Amino acid sequence: MHSTQAKGHRPEDPPPVPDRSVRLLSERPPCRGGPADEGLDGCSAPAADADAVDAHTVDADVARAVERQLDTLLAERVARAGDLDPGFARELAEPVSRFTRHGGKRIRPRFLWWTLRACDGGDGPRVTAALRIGAALELLQTCALVHDDVMDGARTRRGRPALHVEAAARGPADGTRPARDFGAAVAILAGDLALVWADDVVAETALPPAVAGTVRGLWRSLRTEMVAGQYLDLHGQAMSLCSPARALRAACLKSARYSVERPMALGAALAGADDATLRALCSAGRCVGTAFQLRDDLDDVFADPRRTGKPGGGDIRAGKPTYLVAVARTAAEAAGDRRALRVLDDCVGRADLGEEDLDRVREVLIATGARSTVETRIGRLTAHGLRRLAAVPLEPYAAGRLADLMRAVSGADPGGGPDPARCGDGAAPGSRRAGDGGVSGR
Ligand code: IPE
Ligand code: IPE
Ligand code: MG
Ligand code: MG
Ligand code: MG
Repeated sequence: MHSTQAKGHRPEDPPPVPDRSVRLLSERPPCRGGPADEGLDGCSAPAADADAVDAHTVDADVARAVERQLDTLLAERVARAGDLDPGFARELAEPVSRFTRHGGKRIRPRFLWWTLRACDGGDGPRVTAALRIGAALELLQTCALVHDDVMDGARTRRGRPALHVEAAARGPADGTRPARDFGAAVAILAGDLALVWADDVVAETALPPAVAGTVRGLWRSLRTEMVAGQYLDLHGQAMSLCSPARALRAACLKSARYSVERPMALGAALAGADDATLRALCSAGRCVGTAFQLRDDLDDVFADPRRTGKPGGGDIRAGKPTYLVAVARTAAEAAGDRRALRVLDDCVGRADLGEEDLDRVREVLIATGARSTVETRIGRLTAHGLRRLAAVPLEPYAAGRLADLMRAVSGADPGGGPDPARCGDGAAPGSRRAGDGGVSGR
């Protein structure tokens, strides 16, 4: 940097920006060192505010504890954004903060937490790390949802206008093409910002050296898996690639991994669980995570949007290649049901589909047996996940909470028999294996 720029401020220069990140580094309390700190990887984070929180307090309300962590982390980041530019803070950083702090079910940090507790890891530094990584998962979720709503053309989220819709209303004359483009562009940046903040939070989280490599590796994996799954979903929609096997593969990648499997793995890794435990929990989480996405697909068509906070029938109007629609098509083809196929051809992917036509699609999904096939599948996946969980030696109370959470997210009656498809590995009724996906196995 030139010395003139560093010292003087000319009238035409932008106002000087206080560099809060530098101040934070220099003001950071010195590494405390000594036996109590010896497990952490280099004091890479400011002394974490959640240090004071004990595991039993978090047990009482995990979502609340993560929200407190988010409040602190986001207040800091919004303040730094304000130092850069007030408009950026008001119109991008604050909406990202608001979106993240309000309305989510917090299932990812809850899976992380109860797995940590089930693996018996609840000492001070691990509590702090779990809450920070739980908060980072929520920031990643903000990125995923904000971008997803642009890609899916969804106008509501968490019972409110989607972020891109809200931003469009602040842009050039609302309702016009330039306003929509502006809204989408703002949402892209908002998602980017949420992802950057999520990564920063993880990078600045102090971890015991024995588990740091595994935890950071899991974090890296889940981000890429989610993007891979979203691409499969998008590509299948654009190219009308709608097979049950492909749909299961996309559900696993775009949702099961980052929503359930990896949060559980992060909890187990933080607790220092051994490889066999980690593998068994991943398998359980992948089954339940796939069931979670299949439930979400059913809810899109059959649930009350006032409950989901999302548009009803959005997947049908967008032409999403969901497992539900793929099973209906496969069944209609096998039965030579031309009427059902005509309804699917006419209605799936029609953006202006009205309620009456949506009802015709619902009838076909029921009459072909697709709805009950998906319900059965959800039940089997959940039962398989619960059996896997039960086979791992875990702290009983926390394992029970984990099992409750699994049942809750899949909305399942897990009475089904074993699922031969092995949890989204790709096999579907009547098919051998997912061979048409663009992403190879693990
Ligand atoms: C929605 O996830 C996106 C999917 C992966 C299906 P959630 O249902 O966890 O959404 P929030 O965070 O509670 O809003
Ligand atoms: C989205 O799947 C998964 C991610 C956000 C990564 P969906 O598109 O089905 O999620 P919803 O239904 O909009 O929440
Ligand atoms: Mg969507
Ligand atoms: Mg989507
Ligand atoms: Mg959905």
